[in-house]
This record gives sequence, C-alpha cells and structure tokens, in this order.
Amino acid sequence: MKAMPAEVGTERFLEETRELCESHLDDILSPGSSRATVIHEAMRYSVFAGGKRFRPALVRAAGQVFEADEASILDVACGIELIHTYSLIHDDLPCMDDDDLRRGKPTLHKVHGEGIAVLAGDALYALALEVIARSGTLEIVEEVARATGTEGMIGGQAADILLEGKEITAADLEFIHSHKTGSLITACLTSGSRLGNATEHELDLVRTFGSAMGLAFQIVDDVLDETGDSEVLGKTAGADRKRDKNTYPKIHGLEPSRELALELVESAKNELVLPGRDTIILNLLADFVVQRVM
Ligand code: IPE
Ligand code: IPE
Ligand code: MG
Ligand code: MG
Ligand code: MG
Repeated sequence: MKAMPAEVGTERFLEETRELCESHLDDILSPGSSRATVIHEAMRYSVFAGGKRFRPALVRAAGQVFEADEASILDVACGIELIHTYSLIHDDLPCMDDDDLRRGKPTLHKVHGEGIAVLAGDALYALALEVIARSGTLEIVEEVARATGTEGMIGGQAADILLEGKEITAADLEFIHSHKTGSLITACLTSGSRLGNATEHELDLVRTFGSAMGLAFQIVDDVLDETGDSEVLGKTAGADRKRDKNTYPKIHGLEPSRELALELVESAKNELVLPGRDTIILNLLADFVVQRVM
C-alpha cells in the first residue's frame, strides 16, 4: 500500500481537531450559560469566527503521544483556545495593534465597542480556567497561568508594545516572540503531555521542542504579514510595517527569517527523541508551521 502523503495526515488531524473542538466549544459557550447576553454574544462571535485551531491540535497531539484521556484533552484544548481568542481580541484593540480585521471578520471592538471587547476577553480567560480545571490536574492550571502571565504571553505583549517603533536588538526581538507566542504554544504541548503519563524528563524534551516551534510560529506570522494576502490570512496584511512593529523580516530580512523558522523547526524535531513514543503527529505539526511560508 502507498504511504499517505504527510500533508494529508496533517490536514486530516487539523480538520478532526477543528470539528471536535468546535462542537465542545459550542457546549461550553451554550446560550443558556450566561445571562449577560451581549458579552456572551461577543465571546461567541470571536471564538466561532474561524481560526486554525492550531493550539488545540498541539494539546491533542501531545496528549495522544502520552496516551491521555480524550475527554480531558478536549477540555484543556478548548480552554487554551479560549485563552488564545482572548489574546487576539485584546491584541487588536486600538490601544494595542489597532486592527480592524480578524479571522476574516471585523474585529470585536468594531462590532461591540472597546468596553465589551475588553470584558469579553476577560470573561474568556475566566471561562478557560474553569474548563481547564475540569481536567483535575493542578499542574496544568499552574503552567497555563504562568505561560500567559508576566513570565509568558503578557510579558511578551508588554515588551511588544513598549518597544514599538524603537530600535531593538535581535535578542530583544527573540524575547518578545518567544514570550508573546512561544510560551502558550509550549504550554499546549506540556499540558497535553501531563494529561498522559509523561515523565519529567519527557516534559523537558517537549518543552524544548515547544520553545523552538513556538518561536518559529511567530516568525512565520511576521513573514506572512509581509508576503501574505489579507483574504487568506483573515487579517490585514502589511499591518506590522504600517505600525512599525518589531518583526523578524524588519530586523533580519525576509529570506533569513524564513530560513531561521525552518532551522528552528528542524532542530525542534531533531531534539524530540522519545524512545517508545510515536511522535509523528508532533513532527507533522511542526512542519505545518513552516510550510505556510515555503
Ligand atoms: C495569531 O495566531 C496570533 C499569533 C500568536 C501569531 P494564529 O495564526 O494561530 O491565529 P488563528 O487562531 O488561526 O486565528
Ligand atoms: C500576537 O502577535 C500575539 C498574541 C496575541 C499574544 P501579533 O500581533 O503578531 O498577532 P497578529 O498578527 O495580530 O495575529
Ligand atoms: Mg500584537
Ligand atoms: Mg496583532
Ligand atoms: Mg502578526
């Protein structure tokens, strides 16, 4: 029998993740669950606007590598997608990146106003903790909270806006990207692994894989801002340059940025040596990150 092309395997896995997560998210955000109708509508608007559901796919993939329970995987995967969606809502606000288009639709503050957009983001974070806590693993709640706080995503986002328009070093840029984006991506992988029977040593290896892949993910996002099409991206291409954001193409150039992302993904895969574990799907998802700009 002919082997299935890798892209088909990745596409199928992402599609399956999308279906499973969207159905679970629909339950989590069911209309009966809140009396604050406008906030509730706003949360649903952003969560169901689309998105690759890449972070849930990472949680699922890591969970499968370590034979975790499917129901817990789904709670953590959806919880992290809620956090990611909150981060996008706030990232798009006029006081942050001031973007009008997200996931192919007008940004939330354009539709419901800034106040509701801020509150919808806050509420998504609260709901995410509730859902993630159902997994019953305190270390996951702790790790996700840390990855999204000042030592992680918020630390990166703060540096991103504070250094906007300023001359920065390559090391500053790496700090911004690995914190604003890499931290949550790494937490997806360690959370999925923790739900299974990963050892501390295996968790360390997964963390190293996640850091490299997470940084590559944001480099690719920067490259796509320069080379992509708004229609395909679902967000306004060229927005970074217009705002004079610090990006990899700005500091390193376009082609070196692509190469760096590819090198990071290759090194991530090479270092993920987990004897007795089937890591194929994790490697395919790492390839997916760079294939978007190759
Ligand atoms: C966009 O993330 C924001 C970054 C951290 C780069 P995604 O590219 O995963 O956005 P969605 O979820 O598919 O909309
Ligand atoms: C966003 O980075 C990172 C987070 C939301 C934490 P960007 O500002 O580059 O994301 P996009 O390009 O708006 O999706
Ligand atoms: Mg931003
Ligand atoms: Mg942005
Ligand atoms: Mg971007």
